[in-house]
Amino acid sequence: SFEPPKPLIVKDLEPEIDDGKKKVAIFFGTQTGTAEGFAKAMADEAKARYDKAAFRVVDLDDYAADDEEYEEKLKKETLAFFFLATYGDGEPTDNAARFFKWFTEGTERGEWLQNLQYGVFGLGNRQYEHFNKVAKEVDDGLAEQGAKRLVPVGLGDDDQCIEDDFSAWRELVWPELDNLLRDEDDATSASTPYTAAVLEYRVVYRDPMDTPALEKSLSSANGNAVIDAQHPCRANVALRKELHTPESDRSCIHLEFDIAGTGLAYETGDHVGVYCENLMETVDEALNLLGVPPETYFSIHTDKEDGTPFSGGSLPPPFPPCTLRTALYKYADLLSSPKKSALLALAAHASDPNEADRLRYLASPAGKDEYAQWVVASQRSLLEVMAEFPSAKPPIGVFFAGVAPRLQPRFYSISSSPRMAPSRIHVTCALVYGETPTGRTHKGVCSTWMKNAVPLDESDQCSWAPIFVRQSNFKLPADSKVPIIMIGPGTGLAPFRGFLQERLALKEAGVELGPSILFFGCRNRRMDFIYEDELNNFVKAGAVSELLLAFSREGPTKEYVQHKMLEKASDVWQIISDGGYIYVCGDAKGMARDVHRTLHTIVQEQGSLDSSKTESLVKNLQMTGRYLRDVW
Ligand code: 2AM
Repeated sequence: SFEPPKPLIVKDLEPEIDDGKKKVAIFFGTQTGTAEGFAKAMADEAKARYDKAAFRVVDLDDYAADDEEYEEKLKKETLAFFFLATYGDGEPTDNAARFFKWFTEGTERGEWLQNLQYGVFGLGNRQYEHFNKVAKEVDDGLAEQGAKRLVPVGLGDDDQCIEDDFSAWRELVWPELDNLLRDEDDATSASTPYTAAVLEYRVVYRDPMDTPALEKSLSSANGNAVIDAQHPCRANVALRKELHTPESDRSCIHLEFDIAGTGLAYETGDHVGVYCENLMETVDEALNLLGVPPETYFSIHTDKEDGTPFSGGSLPPPFPPCTLRTALYKYADLLSSPKKSALLALAAHASDPNEADRLRYLASPAGKDEYAQWVVASQRSLLEVMAEFPSAKPPIGVFFAGVAPRLQPRFYSISSSPRMAPSRIHVTCALVYGETPTGRTHKGVCSTWMKNAVPLDESDQCSWAPIFVRQSNFKLPADSKVPIIMIGPGTGLAPFRGFLQERLALKEAGVELGPSILFFGCRNRRMDFIYEDELNNFVKAGAVSELLLAFSREGPTKEYVQHKMLEKASDVWQIISDGGYIYVCGDAKGMARDVHRTLHTIVQEQGSLDSSKTESLVKNLQMTGRYLRDVW
């Protein structure tokens, strides 16, 4: 089975030189690099401000090999900052998971951190129920365990402008650090305004003929011992089909990746990460705006010409040498709204001073509202913004470092089980397609790629993508006799298709199954009832005891999965009382929140409990892993 990569830990890499400087640790828990970028930006600015301290930026996973080491090392810290992102259902990032579990679930340690002063900045999204849960819990935990909080926890909100939240929080930190770190004679350090430099890679232009071996496409065996986000493996698209009927005006794709011979393995309930590519039309538009020949062959580097590293910043690791066209296909996020730092980078390279001024204004505190309106609320893409400022032509090294963020892998709940499909990973993906406020037709990068993918059964020149598996804890109970409830409307059905494949395989192998209910919902039986035949077969074969359907746009009133749950309240309560598991998958902001409330209602009414008993019963289900959510 799939083993997560074990981080290779070299203990105490930092030189233990006591140069009299106060040591400051800046920790980060990052998934897409934003938290890491903030940590590095803070370290850079702090280094420029305070000579008398040594700042180091630390990946929480690299910090310690085990719980004991976390304890041993943290005890010695005197000043630390934490940049912590919260994901999905209030979870920490992969690289902070071990720390978070140890720190929040560990044994009672008393006030053992009395030597530590600290600040926490969280990265989250207010649209989600568990807004900045990880940062809040670590912040509280540190205070409870005796550490001294220097500034209130920063609650970065990605739904608005998280860069602004970071800037505002930083302004609270400096006066505190001035007190702690400023040399009395050194009056300049705190008063000199610090302006972040525009990030840039060093670019080497190459003759493609000289370096034919460099642009190696991924082979199916990627040569690495592990397959992870940094080392994905190439997987062909074996099959692709539309799941909606032609009557539907939307689209939902069933896609199968062939993983035979790749070394990639997965378990039912895991996620697959997919590195997709931009559309040709998007890439062509970007080429036009940049005004650099598409076949320009180059490599990017994070060191200076003499080989010494750049002083900091938050440059992601370089991608392999390739043409500009390829780089735009694979590595540039061109359709998200540009960050303020991207506007500043564009301004730095705008030949028309009026354009430069306007870009700087949009990125400034004075232009806050206009940025929120003109960029964020209008969902203006980076390319749309660049088109409005035609004189801004950043060089390649700036464009890939500070203007276009790296195109991130997209995660999907795997909709198959290895017991049924050992050499395939199935994905169930709703097409993201719609008009933005500016009249642009937004096409989701990965879902559009999947919709257009050419499967192997149609052509030898089939589509492929670099992919990897991310383990999840969304797993069936170890004992298949334990009863389960599954709630998954729309593409939230995906992992449950995997669950039912697994249960069917178990049943066929003679294993006894406990009772199970699946709640599924869609708009209309004729249009978007995905996998209808398969689900009916699962019922017939006894892989699921009951299938309950909610069609939201058939009758005069909306029928949702939670309405069906209420109709089945006594059965749901029975399963909970019998030690069963509850699984919810799908939209976090609407559905999962409403289902969560409904679950409380059912528990309260059926169990005749007061509201605080109800709360703690549901909390307890969550804590013991019997109420699991895979939501986005
Ligand atoms: P609607 O689009 O008609 O409102 C899958 O997307 C199904 O989930 C659709 O039938 C959709 O209905 C429904 N849905 C939308 N919001 C929901 C919510 N808050 N709770 C449960 N189901 C919801």
